This record gives sequence, C-alpha cells and structure tokens, in this order.
Amino acid sequence: MAQKSAPGPLRSLCFLLLASAANAAITVYQAGDQAAFTTASLASGATYTGVAAYNPTSMTVPPLPTASVLTTIPVNLQNSGTVGMSIKQKGSFFGFSIEMSVTNQVLGKNSTFLQVPFLNLMANIQQRAGSVMVRVGGNTQESAKLVADGVIPDGRVLTKNLTGVTGTTQTPPLEYSRDLLYMMRNISSLVNVHWFLGIPWFVTAPFDTAIIRAADEILGDYLLGLQAGNEPDMYNLHGHRGDTYSPFDYGGEVSDLLTQVASEGSDPTGRAMSLLVGPNIADFAWTPELVWDSGYVDKFSNNLAYLAVEKYPRDNCAAMFGGPGANVTDPQSVLPLYLTHDAHTQLLAPYLNSTAYAQTKGKPFLMFETNTASCGGFLGVSDSFAAALWGLDYALQMAHSNFSGAMFHLGGQNVFYNPFTSPPTNESTFHSWTVGPLYYSALAMAEAIGPSNNTQVFNYGVADLTSFTPIYGIYENGTPVRVAIFNYLDDPSGANTVHAVISIAGATIPSSVKVKYLAATSVVQKGGFTWAGQTFGGIFESDGRPMGQEDVKTVPCDTTAGTCTIDVPAPGFALVFLTDDAFTENKGGPSMTFPTTAQTKTHNTAKVDPSILSTSNGYRMSEHELAGTSKKPSAGPRTAQASLVGAGVVLGAMVVLLGRVL
Ligand SMILES: *[C@@H]1O[C@H](CO)[C@@H](O)[C@H](O)[C@H]1NC(C)=O
Ligand SMILES: *[C@@H]1O[C@H](CO)[C@@H](O)[C@H](O)[C@H]1NC(C)=O
Ligand SMILES: *[C@@H]1O[C@H](CO)[C@@H](O)[C@H](O)[C@H]1NC(C)=O
Ligand SMILES: *[C@@H]1O[C@H](CO)[C@@H](O)[C@H](O)[C@H]1NC(C)=O
Ligand SMILES: *[C@@H]1O[C@H](CO)[C@@H](O)[C@H](O)[C@H]1NC(C)=O
Ligand SMILES: *[C@@H]1O[C@H](CO)[C@@H](O)[C@H](O)[C@H]1NC(C)=O
Ligand SMILES: *[C@@H]1O[C@H](CO)[C@@H](O)[C@H](O)[C@H]1NC(C)=O
Ligand SMILES: *[C@@H]1O[C@H](CO)[C@@H](O)[C@H](O)[C@H]1NC(C)=O
Repeated sequence: MAQKSAPGPLRSLCFLLLASAANAAITVYQAGDQAAFTTASLASGATYTGVAAYNPTSMTVPPLPTASVLTTIPVNLQNSGTVGMSIKQKGSFFGFSIEMSVTNQVLGKNSTFLQVPFLNLMANIQQRAGSVMVRVGGNTQESAKLVADGVIPDGRVLTKNLTGVTGTTQTPPLEYSRDLLYMMRNISSLVNVHWFLGIPWFVTAPFDTAIIRAADEILGDYLLGLQAGNEPDMYNLHGHRGDTYSPFDYGGEVSDLLTQVASEGSDPTGRAMSLLVGPNIADFAWTPELVWDSGYVDKFSNNLAYLAVEKYPRDNCAAMFGGPGANVTDPQSVLPLYLTHDAHTQLLAPYLNSTAYAQTKGKPFLMFETNTASCGGFLGVSDSFAAALWGLDYALQMAHSNFSGAMFHLGGQNVFYNPFTSPPTNESTFHSWTVGPLYYSALAMAEAIGPSNNTQVFNYGVADLTSFTPIYGIYENGTPVRVAIFNYLDDPSGANTVHAVISIAGATIPSSVKVKYLAATSVVQKGGFTWAGQTFGGIFESDGRPMGQEDVKTVPCDTTAGTCTIDVPAPGFALVFLTDDAFTENKGGPSMTFPTTAQTKTHNTAKVDPSILSTSNGYRMSEHELAGTSKKPSAGPRTAQASLVGAGVVLGAMVVLLGRVL
C-alpha cells in the first residue's frame, strides 16, 4: 500500500521541529535487511528497496478450509457457576516489550523530548485499562552499560559501540545515560506506564549492577520488575556459557547477584531485589519444570516478583541473518498458521503446568517477550490483519491459561512485527508513525478485560466448533459481562459469517447489547484496520490517536427466545458488551487532558489559551473516550509535522493527551 495523504490529526498543533538528527534509522540489529523478500512483487510492479517496517508487499488470501465450519454457534453462558475460568486479570495484560536500543526512537530523544505519539498510544490503553506495562530490554539489555558519569554528550540517552559486534542477532554493545531512566520516569508522570528492565547477565563475575540502583532510585514505584537473565537457556547456543550450563548454574548466578548487591550496598532499600523476574527461558534448552525442580522459586521466593518465560511460535532468522543456502521461510506458507486458534492452545499447552505451579507459589506468571516470529516476524503476516486477530486471540488464550500478562516485542525499522514504529529520525519532520496490527490487538484486549482487576477469562467450548472461530466469555465477579468472538476465515461472500447466538442461563437477556468490531476487508490487509470504526491509518499516518468517529453497534436481542445473535464477518472480531456497566466501566471515571507544557522548563513561552483548545480538534472529550478527538482521514496534502515534542518547549500550542487519572 502506498503512503496515503491524510491530514495530521495534530495539525493544529505545532511542535519543536527536529529537522535533522544524527543516527538515522538506528535499528536493533546490525545486519540483515530481509534481502530475501525485498524484491517480492508490489502492486505497482515496482521493487521495494526500503526497510522492512514499511514494506508494502501483501500475501495472497489463503483458501477456505474444505471441511464445513460451524457458523451458527450457540453461546450458552451461565450467570453464575462457570467452571474453569482464569485467575483474575488486569486490563494491562497486553503490554509491550521495547528493544532497549530503540528507546531513543520510540520513547523520546531524552527526558525533555518525549515522543508525543508514544504518549498518545499509551494514553489510549490507559484510558481503557488503567495502566500499561512496558518492558525495556531484549537482546540489547545484556551488554548495556550505564556510562561512567551517567551522561552522554549532546543530551543523548544511548550510544552504540560498534567495535567487536558479536552474536546471532549481531547486537552492538549499548551505552546509556541516567537520562534514559529519567525519560521513562517522565513518561510515567504523563501516562500511567509501569516498567520492566533487565540486569545485564552475560558477565556475572562481577555483575554490572548499575541499573539496579539507578532504576530503583529514578523509577521508584513505576519499576515493576528487573529481569534476572534473558533467555538463559540460549546462553550456551550463543556462546555465552559452556555446554554444561544448567538451571542449577543459573540459580547459582542469581545467588551470586544477591550476594554482590548486598556487599556493594547497591539496593539500599532492598526493594529492587524483591522485584526480580525469572527465569525468562525461551523453552529452548530447558523446560520450565527443569527450572522449578532445581528449587529456584522457593530459594528466591523473597526476590522473585514474577515468574516469566519468552516464546515465539517460530522464527524468521534465516531471512534476517542466514547466509547463502539458508532455508528462508516463505511467509505465504506460514500465513495459515496464524489464522487458527489451535496454534495458541498448542503453543501454550506446555506452560499450563507452570501457570498452575505459579499459583501454588503465589507468583504471577508472564509471557515476557513474544510476537509472531522471532528475528523480526514475517513480511505480509506480522504486519497484516491476520496478526491483529492472532495477537488478540493469543492474549485472550494466555489470560484463559492463567498467565498474568504478555509483552509484545517491538524493534526498529528493519522488522515486520512492530505494534508501532517511529519514523526514521531524519524523516520525523514530515513522516509520522506507523501503527501495526498488534496495537489494535492491545486496544481490543484492554477493553475486553477492562480496568476492574477483577476480570476472569474463559475460552468457551462448543460442540463441533472449529479452530477458526474461537469464543471467550469474560466475567466479573463470576458473572458474564462481555463476549469475545473471532472469525479467522476470509470470505467476502458472507457464507462464512459467524452468527453467535448468546444466551445467559439464570439471567434475563437485555433488549439490546453493544458491540465493537475489529475490522478489515481481508486477513492480508496492511494498515487501515478499524477498532469500533476508528483507525490509525497506514504507513506514516498516525500521531498515536485514533482517527474517525467511534462506531459502536447496538444489536437488538430476541427477548422472547432469550438470545442475542451477533454477526461476525469473515474475517473479523466482535466484543459484545452484555450490560451497560460492562460497556461504561472502561470509559467512565474522571478523564483529563494534559498538555506537555506540564513541564516547567519553558524555553519558549508561547502558549495557547486553554479555552481555544477546548474547542479545537484535539480536545473534545466524549462519553466514548477517544471519539471525536481527531478528524477523519481525507485526501489532502499532509502538513509537515514533527512527532518529537520538547517537553517544556512549546511553540504555539500544546499537545493534548487524553488520559485517565488513577
Ligand atoms: C535533550 O536534548 C536537547 C536537544 O539536544 C537538549 O537541548 C537537552 O538539554 C537535552 N536534555 C537533557 C536532559 O539532556
Ligand atoms: C568498544 O568496544 C570495544 C570492544 O569491546 C572496546 O575495546 C572499547 O573500549 C569500547 N569503546 C568504548 C568507547 O567503550
Ligand atoms: C523530567 O526529567 C528531568 C530530568 O531531566 C527532571 O528534572 C524533570 O523534573 C522531569 N519532569 C517531570 C515532569 O517529571
Ligand atoms: C508440573 O510441574 C511440577 C513442578 O516443576 C513438576 O513437579 C511436575 O512433574 C509437573 N507435572 C507435569 C505433568 O509435567
Ligand atoms: C536447508 O534445507 C536442506 C534440505 O532440507 C538441507 O539439506 C540444508 O542443510 C538446509 N540448509 C541450512 C543452512 O540449514
Ligand atoms: C486457571 O486457574 C484456575 C484457578 O486455579 C483453574 O480453575 C483453571 O482450570 C486454570 N485454567 C487453566 C487453563 O489451566
Ligand atoms: C534518512 O536516512 C536514510 C539512511 O541514511 C536515507 O536513506 C534517507 O534518504 C534519509 N531521508 C532523508 C529525508 O534525508
Ligand atoms: C488495579 O490494580 C492496580 C495495581 O496493580 C491499582 O493501581 C489499581 O488501583 C487497581 N484498580 C482497581 C479498580 O482496583
């Protein structure tokens, strides 16, 4: 899809324009440009030679299954007594994992220059869920060093040392300043983001504990956890440990860390060492049980705030890093694997024993890093509507399976799977952000769970239900409040539209229900998806706020039969709100808008009268949180705008964010 012109939703607002910047298009990895697919056919017949994140190539819609699919589906809910519901879940379940090396593109330049689109993207989730979990880390955390005096010249938060780059992902050692942490802290004072970080683990004698003290000091209560090792069961494969490295050895390293931190006094309050996240294994060389059976959880019970694993269904490393003769996976061949619910139950089955075990130990269990495929995802799959359905079903199935959260990974411009991508820094004056399918999954998940902290999820079984139409009941206090219905099939004829016939034993069916749809014309569509009618557009089209009017359907029920029939097109997803409370709970409450002029160090004192803002495009609040906050996309020249805002540097206007104070 070519870049479309659309008015920037923040066009009425002026920002500090960063016309030029060094470090254009810094990416997570050093090598591999996905060369194998850059010559794939484009609609125009042209050859795409740019970076992966903006590759417009689409796949072909997979054929419909030959066996017939149950499309009129009885959803016989019970008002109470449902057996098999998940543990209580939070609206922040669907979080993000940001590769540390791209934080200076995604979060901001530094603590005084935050990326407004990022703030908006987080505010959208906060509005629905109450808070957002973000992990900063990934491969690049392992060799990250806090610079000696804490400061990098030119007000930067990161630099890369490109000397001696090693490892499969060819990740350069990263140096960061304390200001990276101040930047995160400043974000948390604007939007309710809570953070995970990681302790570098390649070198353990001694550990580099700088991040422990700094993170605890600077992030305070916004620090959720510190990773103790990142995929330690792959350390041997990547040459960081010897052949015999085992869960027992890994546990010994955790002991060494605690000893070192105690002797250095690098955790004066003791809080940081009660926030460890482990073992973060990739299920590569070790099973979780091997770690549990080494006594890990009991031994470090006072230190572990979360148990966690990392898992991708498959990888695209051959395309990213493989040399001549590498067996590169054809994305078309794997596309159908992302359009079935069974893929999730199969992926998660090995973890059910662990989520049960975690409950017996009173520890939340996280999917700490995941996405469609490691090494950047697949062209035409990870960046298509298929991934939006896949990510949402995956998250709901994890919730059903008693995980307590999942962080979907994003990297730089040379990957396909990003939930959102900031523009190359040298282009930020005229290009805006690109919002990917997984961000839509995150929004829908935030609404499916809501902010009550009291939500339980149940993957609803129906006789003869196929893998293409999963259904979830979503409960509060044991009572069904919402229903989530998927249709993975792609059939514009309408013959495979799902008709979910909902009834609730023990309750009176309402006269109507409200429904929000996650929609696109096809599973291979790229960009322009809609959630309840609102979109973030296509490549370079977003400032992080939904565009268009919110469109919530009201579906009448058959009160005589006691049923509500919800149609879900092929493809599509519907979230059904069974009660008015279920609908309003994640939009009620006090809302606030705040300008980034909340910061005080104003270099330029230009200000805008708040009463002007109250009638401007960006400000209007409505019952439906973000509805009406921006214009619909229309054909017309896009005005230049920057996506970096100087927090405290305000030229002519303020940036309005919509958030909810909690
Ligand atoms: C952030 O970067 C800007 C522009 O380079 C600089 O003026 C400012 O001092 C930096 N802020 C910090 C806290 O270093
Ligand atoms: C960069 O890395 C190399 C190899 O590890 C090291 O010798 C060098 O001192 C590093 N440079 C800086 C500026 O840290
Ligand atoms: C942002 O970070 C700076 C440190 O650079 C700090 O002085 C300032 O108080 C922070 N602002 C907010 C709003 O937290
Ligand atoms: C479940 O995990 C526990 C703890 O590691 C282990 O003892 C048990 O054997 C596991 N059960 C199964 C069926 O794998
Ligand atoms: C690619 O697949 C072929 C056939 O299965 C195999 O012989 C070859 O070793 C593979 N190449 C690599 C680099 O794995
Ligand atoms: C999730 O945990 C609940 C409460 O312990 C349990 O009843 C349910 O069976 C578990 N679900 C799965 C899929 O393991
Ligand atoms: C931005 O940088 C990239 C990589 O150096 C270059 O290909 C591109 O042309 C630059 N864009 C602009 C507008 O200067
Ligand atoms: C949900 O839990 C979070 C802490 O994880 C808390 O800050 C928030 O207030 C809780 N929300 C409600 C509605 O209880």
